[in-house]
Amino acid sequence: MSAPVVPARTPRAILDTSDFARDMAACLGSRPHEISPKYFYDERGSRLFDRICELPEYYVTRTELGIFQRDIARMADAIGPDAEVIEFGAGSLTKARLLLRALQRPRRYVAVDISAEHLQAATASLQQEFPEVEIIPVVGDFTNMAGLPALPRPRPGNRRIGFFPGSTLGNLGLGDARRFLSDASTLLAGGGLLIGIDLVKLPAVLHSAYNDAAGVTAAFNRNLLARANRELGTDFDVEAYAHHAFYHPGLQRIEMHLVCMTAQRVRLGEREFAIRAGDSLHTENSQKYTLDGFRSLAAASGFSPGAVWCDPQQLFSVHWLVSDHQRASTSPHHLENP
Ligand code: AVJ
Repeated sequence: MSAPVVPARTPRAILDTSDFARDMAACLGSRPHEISPKYFYDERGSRLFDRICELPEYYVTRTELGIFQRDIARMADAIGPDAEVIEFGAGSLTKARLLLRALQRPRRYVAVDISAEHLQAATASLQQEFPEVEIIPVVGDFTNMAGLPALPRPRPGNRRIGFFPGSTLGNLGLGDARRFLSDASTLLAGGGLLIGIDLVKLPAVLHSAYNDAAGVTAAFNRNLLARANRELGTDFDVEAYAHHAFYHPGLQRIEMHLVCMTAQRVRLGEREFAIRAGDSLHTENSQKYTLDGFRSLAAASGFSPGAVWCDPQQLFSVHWLVSDHQRASTSPHHLENP
């Protein structure tokens, strides 16, 4: 047996802030029932999402990866040297690897994710590949920037770069997306944001991406209730819920719902909620943008839109956005070695 490889620094998760029980009670206690898609991602949900990314109908992940593979050197040029990368919603870290390999002297990589187990394993293996980069996992909900644990201050001469691939911003409504971008532009003062955004396209293409033939997206959607049964002790009859996902062309978004087909009473702690047949539980929105629409949103939210990279079919886009905020006390020519 060979000795285990010990990473140069052992990354340590900082804090967990989720409150699934509180949000589920609020969801069941008001109509229409709705809950944040962030609760999809327990261990099983994260595995199901990884399978979604491999589906033939789900063009998102492979298209974005293709754009990164083709244009990562140009993205690294736009970003510049000595970056302290902050990834929002760090998933498998495949894209983070590509970025860190392409960047000139990346200094730090902060991975913010809601799933602690996932983050711990993924960042430990990343640290082995990049011993020179300080890798810091932060368990938290980036949709509430104010509630995040304090992020390390950038060292003099370094610039904070936000990295937000996967079109996860699409989970936020337009108001929340604007608020996220404004908060990010403040956080990233002196730097910028590299962000993946899914584009509007033929509704039929969107429809099949969220209604795959193998039923993986349906299982992913239902897992939210299965997870509640496991973690909160609810007694949802999960099989009584139908997966319903559709594209709303007026709002330019996919909506995912779970529609209850048989009336049931659901217990949550001391409380009991009556669910009627036909009731919908709204689990996710996935906003799609036009190139100009997203650039305008960014420009109205504290960023100057820079280069955009797309696949030849214009299914997906990656945007470089420069923060409109300056960093107050920076001496750009002083480089501090870690
Ligand atoms: C991770 C939010 C980008 O909206 O496409 C995939 C999640 N939901 N299939 C998306 C998802 C159903 C995904 N994002």
